[in-house]
Amino acid sequence: MKPTRFALTTLAALGLAAAAAGAHAQAAGPIKVGLMLPYSGTYAGLGIAIENGFKLYVQEQGGKLGGREIQYFKVDDESEPSKATDNVNKLIKRDNVDVLVGTVHSGVALAMAKAARDNNVLMVIPNAGADAITGAMCSANVVRSSFSNWQPGYAMGVVAGQKGVKRAMTLTWAYAAGAESTKGFTEGLEKSGGKVVKDLTLPFPGVEFQALLTEIAAQKPDAVYSFFAGAGAVKFVKDYAAAGLNKTIPLYGPGFLTDGTLEAQGAAAQNMLTTLHYADDLDTPKNNAFRKAYAIAFKAQPDVYAVQGYDAAQILGNGLKAVGGDLAKRDQLTAAMHKTVVDSPRGKFSLSPAGNPVQDIYLREVKGNNNEFRSIAVKSLADPARGCKL
Ligand code: BEZ
Repeated sequence: MKPTRFALTTLAALGLAAAAAGAHAQAAGPIKVGLMLPYSGTYAGLGIAIENGFKLYVQEQGGKLGGREIQYFKVDDESEPSKATDNVNKLIKRDNVDVLVGTVHSGVALAMAKAARDNNVLMVIPNAGADAITGAMCSANVVRSSFSNWQPGYAMGVVAGQKGVKRAMTLTWAYAAGAESTKGFTEGLEKSGGKVVKDLTLPFPGVEFQALLTEIAAQKPDAVYSFFAGAGAVKFVKDYAAAGLNKTIPLYGPGFLTDGTLEAQGAAAQNMLTTLHYADDLDTPKNNAFRKAYAIAFKAQPDVYAVQGYDAAQILGNGLKAVGGDLAKRDQLTAAMHKTVVDSPRGKFSLSPAGNPVQDIYLREVKGNNNEFRSIAVKSLADPARGCKL
């Protein structure tokens, strides 16, 4: 069939638009990405995995997103909320970055999100789950590639209820992530009539667990739910087993308790059940290709943090592609980022209107050095996004 004059005109117009976008991308120079992550302290390993994942995706796109080269600027936030505003201003005011990517710690991310909103800078959060960022504080220019603290906690509460837990105790670090994760767990557990009889905390990033473990042994709950991550999670899981508690009181948690930590936790973590939006052995072409590419590039196995870094770059890349790399088309760019479907190693997911992943939360079991998939604990779980008005 011969193309009509209309079709030829449309094709020519599209060709011109694409050429114009390409020319724009070439003339505009690199996009400045500010990585604000922990490179020291208990969350250092998480920061490195996120950076690796982000860079892997960019490399797979030939080093460009939306046709533009990427230039990186880095700040070690030390997971220290009191330094967060100064640190983020190094990226916004000194380095003049176009996009902020960070961070791991919810308290630091809350300060970053405020600065991003006040300065109208684009921000992609590759971990920190602070509920408010995609709740009451939500903003069109801030999206998250990870989770809200409520999500995996709620799913673990549902699973614990299904396992017949009636009386649970919680033990976490006393900051937003621990408190919100515990709140999600409590809400999930209460759905089946179980309840949390006591919440125990210690200051972040403390690892003096002994007195708290003694209290758990005395109270004899049906299960314990704990939020810890990174080096702190390694110490906690080992201390819990060394106290012999894992023989009588199951230790549950969001998957951070056993993600990126299993080599160091060894026997202490075996057979633990956790809930998260990723499992190492998801047997899909996307996850298999991602794990292979990551292992080749970094001589290490990826974890959930690497996945979230990879997906942060995908969300940014999909947005930039929609505007031909033109950051001045801000409204179109943020709309495209919010509407994107992310082809993630965890499985495809979309973002809620508040900018948080709507995703399956898996039940996983530790076997050797893997968090193995067992079932979907809660399908397509959306954060309640309490108070978000866009
Ligand atoms: C947080 O602070 O939001 C967080 C830190 C580590 C793992 C998961 C969440």
